[in-house]
Amino acid sequence: MLRSRIIGTGSYVPEKVLTNRDLEGMVETSDEWISTRTGIRERRISAGETASGMAARAAKAALKAAGLSAKDIDLVVVGTVTAEMAFPSVACLIQAELGIKAGAAAFDVSAACSGFLYALDIADRYLRSGGAGKALVIGVDKFSNLIDWKDRSTCVLFGDGAGAAVLSAEKGSRGVLSCRIHSDGRHWDTLYCRASRPDNPFEKGNEQPYLVMNGNETFKIAVRTMGQAIKEVMEDTGLKPEDISLLIPHQANMRIINAARERLKLPEERVYTNLDRYGNTSAASIPIALDEAVRDGKVKDNDIILFVAFGGGLTWASAAVRW
Ligand code: UT7
Repeated sequence: MLRSRIIGTGSYVPEKVLTNRDLEGMVETSDEWISTRTGIRERRISAGETASGMAARAAKAALKAAGLSAKDIDLVVVGTVTAEMAFPSVACLIQAELGIKAGAAAFDVSAACSGFLYALDIADRYLRSGGAGKALVIGVDKFSNLIDWKDRSTCVLFGDGAGAAVLSAEKGSRGVLSCRIHSDGRHWDTLYCRASRPDNPFEKGNEQPYLVMNGNETFKIAVRTMGQAIKEVMEDTGLKPEDISLLIPHQANMRIINAARERLKLPEERVYTNLDRYGNTSAASIPIALDEAVRDGKVKDNDIILFVAFGGGLTWASAAVRW
């Protein structure tokens, strides 16, 4: 039986650091409010970098870690909602930038903060069915482009970055054990960003294309859907909480992460968090955290890693992986 094994990870965050103190000078907020309500202390902001540029750096690092060349890749799936172009996709730009062979398949997936797990699920199905041998799965977002920097209720939450994983179809017990993706479009207006162009003369009354969020509602739905998603992959695999070596949740809010941790009764050291340094990087948050955990030596062969995410759409997703 073929499984999709993650054989290399990489990540990239922009150099520019925007601290809570910096934000105090931009909107009426405080380091105390941001850190106690969210757990975020600083985030990275891309100055002049594109989503595909950040993704390419993460992808190159992942290929290097996997010991592969770009020519080995058959499939590129990118989770993003902040591509620098309406088309082509970030995935096609990555294909050109890295020199991935012509004729490989490359496309983007729109699932906001669940984007990486959506991309992982799709790639996993291609690999297991023999449709591809090696896949590059990327999560990248540049939310600094979507944010209304005068809106304190959203501008303190997000940051930019990219994370990537190389997957290989292999026989054996290691790899993706279960992956589940879900959505409920009825709640689209809980968290959205219009793609309108306010200067189109034929479309009067276009809103500014800024991110809009009902924070309290998103919070409640996130806690509920993440709990359900975790339960699902545990049931699929027969895993018990004590089998989980590391939970890598979407990095949106420490209180949401703690709710997921408490549901599994996991000790703090078995949950990876880095949102204090990067804030919510949307589709990039899980692959950046995974790459850091791997580099920190927190992930060992045959460890069971659980991923869980939620985001605009609304979307939610989970995965269990034997490393
Ligand atoms: O990947 C998915 C992305 N989204 C999320 O994960 C967001 C999920 N939601 C959350 O994380 C939380 O709802 C927030 C962190 C966004 C907000 O926390 P909260 O505890 O739900 O606060 P709140 O929205 O109920 O606001 C409480 C107060 C309000 O003032 P009043 O009405 O009580 O006077 C806000 O105006 O805090 C005020 N406030 C702020 N104060 C200082 C809102 N934003 C700020 C701010 N600084 N940045």
